[in-house]
Amino acid sequence: MIVACSNDYLGLAWDPEVRAAAAGGGSGGSRLISGARPVHRQLEEAVGDWLGRPALLFNSGWNANLGVLQALGEAQTRIASDALNHASIIDGLRLSRAERIVVPHADPGAIPADVDAWVVEGLFSMDGDVPPLPAYPSGPLSVVDEAHAVGCLGPGGRGAAALLGVEPDVIVGTFGKAFGAAGAFVAGPPALVDLLVNTARSFVFTTALPEPVAAMALAGLRRADDELRARLAANTERFRCALLQLGWTPLGDAHIVPVVVGPSAVALGRRLLEAGVFAPPIRWPTVARGQERIRFTVSAAHTPEQLDRVAEALGPAGREGARHGT
Ligand SMILES: Cc1ncc(COP(=O)(O)O)c(C=O)c1O
Repeated sequence: MIVACSNDYLGLAWDPEVRAAAAGGGSGGSRLISGARPVHRQLEEAVGDWLGRPALLFNSGWNANLGVLQALGEAQTRIASDALNHASIIDGLRLSRAERIVVPHADPGAIPADVDAWVVEGLFSMDGDVPPLPAYPSGPLSVVDEAHAVGCLGPGGRGAAALLGVEPDVIVGTFGKAFGAAGAFVAGPPALVDLLVNTARSFVFTTALPEPVAAMALAGLRRADDELRARLAANTERFRCALLQLGWTPLGDAHIVPVVVGPSAVALGRRLLEAGVFAPPIRWPTVARGQERIRFTVSAAHTPEQLDRVAEALGPAGREGARHGT
């Protein structure tokens, strides 16, 4: 079975060095009480060196978005949020006391001039597109969730904003996708990190990451190099070209390769499975009804032949409805 739907974009979840790095035990408490371990600080320092700004660890990208948006969203503030932002961003804004202004997808012109902040994904998880970040307003605080881009895109894998030459005020990233581990970080100005340590409830009130997970994340961060990124880019190009030749028009242009087919995605996912390809349908509530899709993801760990087999299993576009009797 070829897995064509994982977020293990660089193949590091299977990397011997990353796996061998898992050492130590549970943390036994929150970071602020008894759970702090040297590896937490080492990981934060490694992220800080990499991104050139201080960073704070969270137990997951979900917790990071909850924490940063709840902490930033004080009463009387207004935060613009892209209509396709991830559920953790939506929930973070719900937890905040800010007024949430949902703006059309990837449309910087729709952001009202008087917002205090805007939040957007660097690479959208379900549409695979990078928003036009240089066109976003520079006045408000900018928060970019780079969950699917860090490790993969931009110089040094610093994400989609870096790829486009933009420096957001706040970067959210995860270790559970390209870096092959779990956990996440928020990187930003020192004052923001202080604010999070003191007020982000999903940081304060939870047991710190177990040492083995933090050690794996650190190893994953070190292993994510230009060679793996080049392989991911070459694989992405090969797979996207194969789909175009078959008449498909996948969304986006990165390693997330969504093919929107509507409700027939269910039958299509089943047929892929029968052909040895694991890429299940993505349905409501993850995407809007009618926008059901197969969300293929490319990994540096795929061989070119495997990607060709995935494209072959998908087959030519335009006949999926007839083939499935839908
Ligand atoms: C854009 C985005 N942000 C945050 C998260 C949550 O990250 P984690 O899986 O580390 O909780 C996800 C998860 O898929 C995501 O797609």
